Amino acid sequence: MSAFVRNAWYVAAWQHEVEAGRALSREILGTPVLLYRTADGTPVALEDRCCHRALPLSMGRVLGDRIECGYHGLQFDRAGDCVAVPGQIAIPPGARVPAYPLVERDRFVWIWMGDADRMDPADIPDFHWLDHPDWRSKPSYLHIRCNYQLLIDNLLDLSHLPFVHPTTLGEMGVAETPAATERTPRGVRTTRWIVDRPPPPMLAKLGGFAGNIDRWQIVDFIAPSAVILDVGGAPTGTGAPEGDRSRGMSNRNLNAITPETRTSLHQFWAQAHSASLTMPGITEGMHDQVRTAFLEDIAFLEAQQKQNEAGPGAARIDINADAAHLQARRLMDRLREEEATAAAE
Ligand code: FES
Ligand SMILES: [Fe+2]
Repeated sequence: MSAFVRNAWYVAAWQHEVEAGRALSREILGTPVLLYRTADGTPVALEDRCCHRALPLSMGRVLGDRIECGYHGLQFDRAGDCVAVPGQIAIPPGARVPAYPLVERDRFVWIWMGDADRMDPADIPDFHWLDHPDWRSKPSYLHIRCNYQLLIDNLLDLSHLPFVHPTTLGEMGVAETPAATERTPRGVRTTRWIVDRPPPPMLAKLGGFAGNIDRWQIVDFIAPSAVILDVGGAPTGTGAPEGDRSRGMSNRNLNAITPETRTSLHQFWAQAHSASLTMPGITEGMHDQVRTAFLEDIAFLEAQQKQNEAGPGAARIDINADAAHLQARRLMDRLREEEATAAAE
């Protein structure tokens, strides 16, 4: 069975990373992918392996709409077809590299590496906060050397906040308040309300909260790659749990997780906010706080990965806080099994 769900859209890059005239190489689902833009601005994704002698095409040159391999000069068009061979007129049969469909949406470049007949751009998860005038964020990227499922576990179980992120996001109320878990049409949602507790350091600093707050954490996992956190807080007694967030601060922590290999991933993320849009430095400040926390996560995730590899059969126990990510893992197992069964038919 494949380590990845293949019939899905994954983020290959932020839009601004894919430029005309420049080859970007990125491994996705264990496959080397070359990304560039044609002269008319269309993004292109090809397998980054020349069909002649396997040199990464990204080591060559982008010539207008074509990529020229850096080794013997074969040229390929945006569909991956070889269109020129130096010193000969005939193009050898089968001279092509796989091309992958791309869709640009919400500042992301989404790639489809699954079965062509299963592809539907309507399935791309909604990340409109990245490209909406009422929201502001800074596009960010982290590379993590762990299996992608460990990061999904991490984001679906925020009970780790007071232990891992005491200087930014943590406050003991998070771990002491159980979260409710439910299945959604394409994933798992976990909801936690921490009522009448002190704000964590980041909300105290950037939200300007003096007294206790009601804090919400609603985490949506949309299989297999999106984790969207609706997080924020409002002064206790102003009605946030009943639906009035107008006195509070509401953020979206947006994550598109793309497996690089079985043991590494790309995390395309942003912290989007809708309040205080004109406050100087707020977008940067929020980004920096969350990045500090994410770097703390990376140290834990990479350490976990090492231990998992060193002791794959070691005993594990589960606790109540694992409910959401255990459901997410079951869902992912089912999706991968379905793909394996369909492929065998
Ligand atoms: S390896 Fe690409 S042209 Fe020879
Ligand atoms: Fe974390």
